[in-house]
Amino acid sequence: MTDQLENELLDLALEAARRAGAMLRDGRPADLGVAATKTSAIDVVTEMDLASEKLITGYLAEARPDDGFLGEEGASIAGSSGVRWIIDPIDGTVNYLYGLPSWAVSIAAEIDGETAVGVVEVPERGETFRAVRGEGAYLGEQRLRHRSAPPLAQALVGTGFGYVTERRAAQAETLRGLLPQVRDIRRGGSAAIDLCDVACGRLDGYYERGLNPWDYAAGELIAREAGALTGGRPAEPLSHELAVAASPGVFEQLQALLEDLGAWHD
Ligand code: IPD
Ligand code: CA
Repeated sequence: MTDQLENELLDLALEAARRAGAMLRDGRPADLGVAATKTSAIDVVTEMDLASEKLITGYLAEARPDDGFLGEEGASIAGSSGVRWIIDPIDGTVNYLYGLPSWAVSIAAEIDGETAVGVVEVPERGETFRAVRGEGAYLGEQRLRHRSAPPLAQALVGTGFGYVTERRAAQAETLRGLLPQVRDIRRGGSAAIDLCDVACGRLDGYYERGLNPWDYAAGELIAREAGALTGGRPAEPLSHELAVAASPGVFEQLQALLEDLGAWHD
């Protein structure tokens, strides 16, 4: 049975993500530009990233004033309740900037340091992914299950790239070794959506180096609750160093190959 706290956090995350998603979809300025840059000139923030984070943190803090927050656009509050919200107000900002549809609002709630609830809202697809730990992952009424594993040579694998030149050069090297060994590669532009795509069987696997907690917290729980395996380097948890998520059967082979290809370092 889902406990009362988890239910409350799920309802709040769903409503915050719904409101932010609607605001982003319906309120995207036709002349949307870059408001600021972060780690490099191509790591951009728009006024809408900032507005979305403000809406989400404002809504959640009003309902639960003692909770902690970690948001991509700067929210950082320790909190005292044992609950911490991890928020990506727009995952896939470059897609959003260009008017491409693959962007999401990602909201996770940790209880005592462990992700308990995850919601990924994908407004342009009309899809809301959600999971509560131990209770499965859902897309609407549909319980999610990963795709059954093909041989690695027939696996469709998603990935993403960081914003800093040195990292991208290393990521290109990894890709050079991987591409001939799989069916094909997809670079969707939103890590949160990639993880949900593993959860619902639209990808056999996904990997990326350099993610931050707001990119993966909700999506990792959704993938795991759909029966996919997640991790980092062999025997390590998924982290900034390396994120791997895949159907069991693909996961082990993909993780071992990424280790050999040095996907975990620049
Ligand atoms: C990015 C996206 C992208 C991934 C990058 C992330 P942002 O998040 O998830 O797919 O490749 O590593 O930084 O900047 O759009 O929130
Ligand atoms: Ca992100």
